Amino acid sequence: MAANHPNHRFLIITYPIQGHINPALQFAKRLTTLGARVTFVTTIYLHSRLVDKPTTPGLSFATFSDGYDDGYEDGHIIKNDTNILSYVSELTRRGSTFLKNIILSAKEENHPFTCLTYTIILPWAATIARELHLPSVLLWIQAATVFDIYYYYFHEHGDCITNISENAIELPGLPFSLKSCDLPSFFLASNPYTFALPSVKEHIQILEEETSPRILLNTVEEFEYEALRDVDVGKIKMIPIGPLIPSAFLDGKDPSDTSFGGDVISVDSEDNYLKWLDSKDEMSVVYVSFGTLAVLSKRQMEEIARALLDSRFSFLWVIRNTKSHQQKEEDGDELSCREELERNVNGKIVKWCCQVEVLSHSSIGCFVTHCGWNSTLESLGSGVPMVGFPQWTDQTTNAKLIEDVDSES
Ligand code: UDX
Repeated sequence: MAANHPNHRFLIITYPIQGHINPALQFAKRLTTLGARVTFVTTIYLHSRLVDKPTTPGLSFATFSDGYDDGYEDGHIIKNDTNILSYVSELTRRGSTFLKNIILSAKEENHPFTCLTYTIILPWAATIARELHLPSVLLWIQAATVFDIYYYYFHEHGDCITNISENAIELPGLPFSLKSCDLPSFFLASNPYTFALPSVKEHIQILEEETSPRILLNTVEEFEYEALRDVDVGKIKMIPIGPLIPSAFLDGKDPSDTSFGGDVISVDSEDNYLKWLDSKDEMSVVYVSFGTLAVLSKRQMEEIARALLDSRFSFLWVIRNTKSHQQKEEDGDELSCREELERNVNGKIVKWCCQVEVLSHSSIGCFVTHCGWNSTLESLGSGVPMVGFPQWTDQTTNAKLIEDVDSES
């Protein structure tokens, strides 16, 4: 799109979690730099948690209630399949009504939207756009390889794949083999989230009904060349527009000069970790964080804690508050050595941090990560080596990419 397009009015809607909002918000900001106006739709609660609401000219927010305006007990809604199924169905009901109304009102007021951009888990957004004759485009916020895998398995095997062998799986066009453990976890028999595969399949079906389907992907050609160019995804055109991470970070500017923390949703942020990092030697600190959704078992947490203490490296560890009061009373703290960790002068535990700022800090030498796609791109962008500890969804495939592709590029 050429610069200066004041008549372009984009409507952007994402599934309400940070891993989806962050890249979409970066996309929104870039559109505004090209002169477009953008309305970003999100829930009342998540809007209230934006650290400092971006004041980018041309960018505005529209909010609706998903029924949780005061927040979720443990930071997000994904606790179990029943829970998420009812959440997704309520979100669909409330979100659809809101989306229809906002599109129709803009039309009536003579400043119609010219394009809807939506992210995954919202196939209904594409259906509404079609009904209302509004052009729309899917922003695939995960890796191109992940899209290829979904596409391939839906076409080759249908969607109920529970018998994938442990042997290597060749996906035509990809330069590496996959094992079942490298596939998105939703394909595995042990997957507890039954809503996920049908939802991705619906997205692909909607795309295939279009005459010239295209999707925007948060990836870069240099990293996923074959996945973007050589893997057969039928008539779907894949357009890489990533990495959708804060541009100040990419440009290597001093983070303190920028507002790139502005679109990060804070959960109990603490501000002294940057000062603490300032006191550390260059590339001496291990940064440990598992994104916004993953919940590690007590055993995993204990092992990480022990390894950090034994390594004697300095560490900054983000431990989110993921348990309800009742769970805490029943299970106790997730770490029996918390006191030892907190007493340790080499270590710091925070409930939250601005990750892009941390990763660009010169003291960080290594990132122990769950391999969420945003974390992966942010780490690549800052040149910090990663130790992958994938948990679920696309993270298993991202870990494979980090292992097999990053080391060669
Ligand atoms: C989810 C999925 O788990 C992930 O695999 C998918 O690709 C996107 O949606 P999440 O698990 O939260 O996301 O991980 P990730 O993709 O890494 O996104 C987390 C975002 O939160 C990153 O942009 C990261 O910078 C930010 N973050 C996380 C912080 O700013 N501070 C933190 O303390 C933790």
